[in-house]
Amino acid sequence: MTKTYRTAIIGTGRSVSNHLIAARMVQDRAELVAAVDIDEARVKTVCAENGIPHWYTSVSEMLAAESPDLVQIVTPPATHKNLIIECLEGGAWVYCEKPLCASLAEFDEITRAEDRTGRYLSTVFQWRFGSAAKHLKQIIEDQTFGRPLVGVCNTLWYRTEDYYRVPWRGKWATEIGGPTVTLGIHLTDLFLWLWPDWQEVRAMTGTIERNIEVEDVSMALVRFAGGEMATFTNSVLSPRQESYLRMDFQQATVEVNALYRYNNENWRFSQPEGVDDPLVRARWEELTEDIPGRHEIQLREILDSMDQNQRPPVSGVESRRILEFIASLYKSAASGQPVLRGDIGPNDPYYYSMNGSPQALTTP
Ligand SMILES: NC(=O)c1ccc[n+]([C@@H]2O[C@H](COP(=O)([O-])OP(=O)(O)OC[C@H]3O[C@@H](n4cnc5c(N)ncnc54)[C@H](O)[C@@H]3O)[C@@H](O)[C@H]2O)c1
Repeated sequence: MTKTYRTAIIGTGRSVSNHLIAARMVQDRAELVAAVDIDEARVKTVCAENGIPHWYTSVSEMLAAESPDLVQIVTPPATHKNLIIECLEGGAWVYCEKPLCASLAEFDEITRAEDRTGRYLSTVFQWRFGSAAKHLKQIIEDQTFGRPLVGVCNTLWYRTEDYYRVPWRGKWATEIGGPTVTLGIHLTDLFLWLWPDWQEVRAMTGTIERNIEVEDVSMALVRFAGGEMATFTNSVLSPRQESYLRMDFQQATVEVNALYRYNNENWRFSQPEGVDDPLVRARWEELTEDIPGRHEIQLREILDSMDQNQRPPVSGVESRRILEFIASLYKSAASGQPVLRGDIGPNDPYYYSMNGSPQALTTP
C-alpha cells in the first residue's frame, strides 16, 4: 500500500536544484516539509522560492520538529557520515549525495547505524536509473550479447582553478579525493554495477596541472571475475568534455557518449562488420522507453522500497562496492602495486581514508 511521506533536504547549495526537481516530481508520494542549511540566508531564500514551509539551521532541531520519513542530503562529502547517522537515528531513511562518505570505515559505521535503527540509506547514483542503463543490465543478465570482454570508462571533464576556489574542494580532508571520487564516480559506479565483480586494479594518479592536493587525473587497468578487462580514466583537464563508456561483448558493442546525463540517443549499438544477427539487434531495439538517468527516478524507487519496508536500490553492498574500488585504486596508485578486491580491511590505512593518511589509522 502506498502512503504519503514527509521529506526534508539538508544542504541548499549549488546542487540542491536536482533534489528540488526530484521532490517536485514525486509530490504525489511525498511532501517536502523542510530544508536545513548552516547558511541561514541561503536556506531562507531556497525555502521561499520553492514553497518549502519550514527552514532550519540545525539538523537536530529539524529532525525533532518535523520527524521526516526521508531526508535528502546535499552537503559537502566530509559532512555526510555524521549527518546520515543522525538522520537514521532520528527515524528517517536517507538519500545521500555521492561520494557517500570518506572511507570504508565510515561506510561500515553507517551500516551499523542502519542495523540499529531499521532505516536504510541509498547513495545518489542517478546514472543507474535511465531506461538504457536498465535495459543493458537485463541484456547482460540474459547474455543475449554473450559475455562482456573489454571495456572503457572515461570521465574526461574540465574544471578550472575557479572550481577549486570553493573552500571544500581540492583537499583530501573535505573533498575526499579528486575526479576519481567526485566526478568519475557516476560512470565508474554504472560500469561496476553492470559488469561481473571487479577483482584487481592497477592504477596511476597525478596532480599535473591544477593547484590542488588531490589528483587531477587518474588511470586504472581493471580485471573482473571472469577475466574481463577494462580501463578507467578520470580527468578534470580535458577541454572537450565527455563521459564515454564502451562495452565489447562477444556479439556486440554498446557505447554511451554523453556529459552529465543521457537519453537513448546517446547510446550506440554495433555488431561486428558484415554481421547482422536479427535476434541480437531485436534485443537491443526492445529499448523504446526513453527515461534519462535522473534523481527523481531513484527517489521514486526509494519510496517504493519504503512502502515495502525493504532495502532500497544503491544501498548496502550495492553502495559499498564503488567505495572499495576507489580506495583500492588510490592504494594501487600510491604503492605501485596491484590491489585485489577484499585486500583493504581494518588493518589497512586505506580502510580509513582514500589517501591512506597515517593519522586516519587512529580514527576510532
Ligand atoms: N549527483 C550529482 O550529479 C551531483 C552533482 C553535483 C554535486 N553533487 C554532490 O552534492 C553535494 C553538495 O555539492 P554542492 O555543489 O551543492 O555543494 P555546495 O558547497 O554548493 O553546497 C553545500 C551546502 O551545504 C551546506 N552545509 C554544509 N555543511 C552543512 C551541515 N553540516 N548542515 C547543513 N548544511 C550544511 C552549505 O552551507 C552549502 O549551502 C556533494 O556531495 C557533491 O558531490 C552531486
